[in-house]
Amino acid sequence: MWQRISCLLLVLMMFGACQPDDDGFGRDRDGRGNGNNGGNGNNNNNNNLSALPLNATDPADNPSTPQKIELGKMLFWDPVLSGEQDVACATCHHPNRGYADGIDLSIGVGGVGLAENRTLGHTGFVSRNAPTIINTAFNGINQNGNVNPDNAEMFWDNRASGLEEQALMPLHSFTEMRGNAFPENQTLPTIVARLQNIDGYQTLFNQAFGSNSISAENVAKALAAFERSILANNSPFDQYMRGNDNALTQQQLRGMNEFVDVGCNNCHNGPMFSDYELHVLGVRENNKLDEPDEGDGDFAFRTPTLRNLAFTAPYMHNGEFNTLERVLDFYDDNHDEAQNNNVNDNDLDDDLQDLDNLNRDEMDDIIAFLESLNDPTFDRSIPSSVPSGLPPGGRIE
Ligand code: HEC
Ligand code: HEC
Repeated sequence: MWQRISCLLLVLMMFGACQPDDDGFGRDRDGRGNGNNGGNGNNNNNNNLSALPLNATDPADNPSTPQKIELGKMLFWDPVLSGEQDVACATCHHPNRGYADGIDLSIGVGGVGLAENRTLGHTGFVSRNAPTIINTAFNGINQNGNVNPDNAEMFWDNRASGLEEQALMPLHSFTEMRGNAFPENQTLPTIVARLQNIDGYQTLFNQAFGSNSISAENVAKALAAFERSILANNSPFDQYMRGNDNALTQQQLRGMNEFVDVGCNNCHNGPMFSDYELHVLGVRENNKLDEPDEGDGDFAFRTPTLRNLAFTAPYMHNGEFNTLERVLDFYDDNHDEAQNNNVNDNDLDDDLQDLDNLNRDEMDDIIAFLESLNDPTFDRSIPSSVPSGLPPGGRIE
């Protein structure tokens, strides 16, 4: 494995693609990370992994302001956005669970409690695992560190583009937020009318968007601006890529090379460790669901980010695996035989079939490397109250 990497390095150096002191990981050896592409400025790194930008990119029609972010935070925590006024975005995207919810399948309307203590309500399970909100500002980022916030892929099947478009979708969902309170086509008018009747929101919308500005569009913009403020882009890996030689342990460095060598970075690449493409992996169904989850229609799901996994177990679109060890075992067992009976072996992604075999030591090293992608310094603040007067985060106590 080392041979392969040094060989590649040699070739790159012969063609002058690397600086002489480049280690093949496109790092910024002088430590001046410029924040656009992890700081290496040329992106000739041969393994397509890089640090996150230092700042998020806003869409042209929704520049962030402190007032918008503050309004968005209130809306994110306020169960007034849900039909039965018991569920907020934060119910399933909670800072104490890495802005996810810590359970395999989310529980929305009618549920009580937070994360593993949450009990099922009258609307049943949401059919998927809640992904984190952290760094969704960078969804869709390419290997050069460029983000197009209007086209950013959202959801496990990429069915929404951009945080603004995504933000109003949970409000319509029967199991997530709407429940039985009103028919789906009454969702936005009902919620907007509720907000217009709350003085606190009149003031906050006024400050963020000007007078008479309470509309569904501005709810979406404020939520998106808040989500873009929840960043965790200074992990040990980012520090290493920006030039700090001591940020990774020897085992993590080994794990990084093995991650590339076995082929994980064919899909988990770029600053988010995701190509934002759909792939068929054939993860088995979650038996809490009556129907198989077909993903995009062909059992393909989007490559998730590998950042901040320490906070967001369980893993996969349906939370089937509780630990990273189980995920690695899955990859090791899953080269050409689908574990999901609905998936043909032939349909498994080629890049999956090309994964090299892993031994236990390599798995441990790769897991150690994945730990270097955690950055616990994200904003975990919880508002003490929200303008509706309802409990912040919904019925999570
Ligand atoms: C009942 C739990 C629940 C609630 C409430 C909820 N979500 Fe989610 N969220 C999920 C689940 C589950 C998914 C994945 C759904 C899918 O992929 O089909 C998701 C996906 C997302 C994503 C996509 C992330 C990505 O990387 O693709 C964003 C952004 C998001 N939610 C924001 C919100 C916002 C904003 C609200 C409030 C308006 C909200 N969510 C309310 C459970 C919830
Ligand atoms: C063919 C593309 C591909 C390759 C190669 C690949 N992955 Fe994945 N990875 C995915 C997709 C797609 C998912 C989500 C699958 C699902 O939910 O059904 C995923 C999920 C994961 C998850 C769960 C993350 C979460 O938040 O749920 C981890 C961890 C992971 N992969 C690590 C790895 C490692 C380590 C390797 C190398 C041994 C690897 N992957 C190789 C595409 C890939």
